[in-house]
Amino acid sequence: MATSENIVWHSTSVTKKDRQKASGERSAIIWFTGLSGSGKSTLANAVEVELFKRNVKTYLLDGDNIRSGLNKNLGFSEADRKENIRRIGEVAKLFVDSNTIVLTAFISPFIEDRETVRQLVEEGEFIEIYVKASLEACEGRDPKGLYKKARAGQIKDFTGIDSPYEAPEHPDLVVDTEKETIEESTAKIVAFLKEQGIIE
Ligand code: ADX
Repeated sequence: MATSENIVWHSTSVTKKDRQKASGERSAIIWFTGLSGSGKSTLANAVEVELFKRNVKTYLLDGDNIRSGLNKNLGFSEADRKENIRRIGEVAKLFVDSNTIVLTAFISPFIEDRETVRQLVEEGEFIEIYVKASLEACEGRDPKGLYKKARAGQIKDFTGIDSPYEAPEHPDLVVDTEKETIEESTAKIVAFLKEQGIIE
């Protein structure tokens, strides 16, 4: 890995605080984590629609999309997943600096990597939402047919099958997509963001 010697951080003239003062809005990372098929992307999209309706500035980073561009050189080994999340974390931090609410939908299977992202931003700017659904439920949904392929041995290192998922121990919020409808989970998240003063 390249070192960062001879690199000097250049502070920008316009800061996050300036942007926040001008717009009267706050920024944060709304980090969705959960198994493949748990509903992360669906919920992140639904929450973004709700925020958009309220004229809140948002952006959504989604696993499959980021992996077809910025992270197209990464696979699903432990090291590649760590690098995937490290890059997403850094990109998400830039969005927070630009005073945008950034929603991210990645399996992000490791507690340590999610904690590293939390540390990148200020206290209260990282909201971890655990999109909870059992492996059985996700496998039953199998929206992309990937669990079937993983069980057949056609995909290796598949999360939940032959690669681990570490559920959050202290998530900011849990939504259970086996028990709640998309509308209920979405409303719960929006209410939580209000409670936290992230949106009005
Ligand atoms: S992460 O583990 O590095 O956070 P990420 O969210 O970017 O994963 O990508 C997961 C998506 O990639 C899944 O929703 C699925 O569509 C696809 N995928 C392809 N191969 C795998 C695999 N081996 N394990 C998990 N997801 C995979």
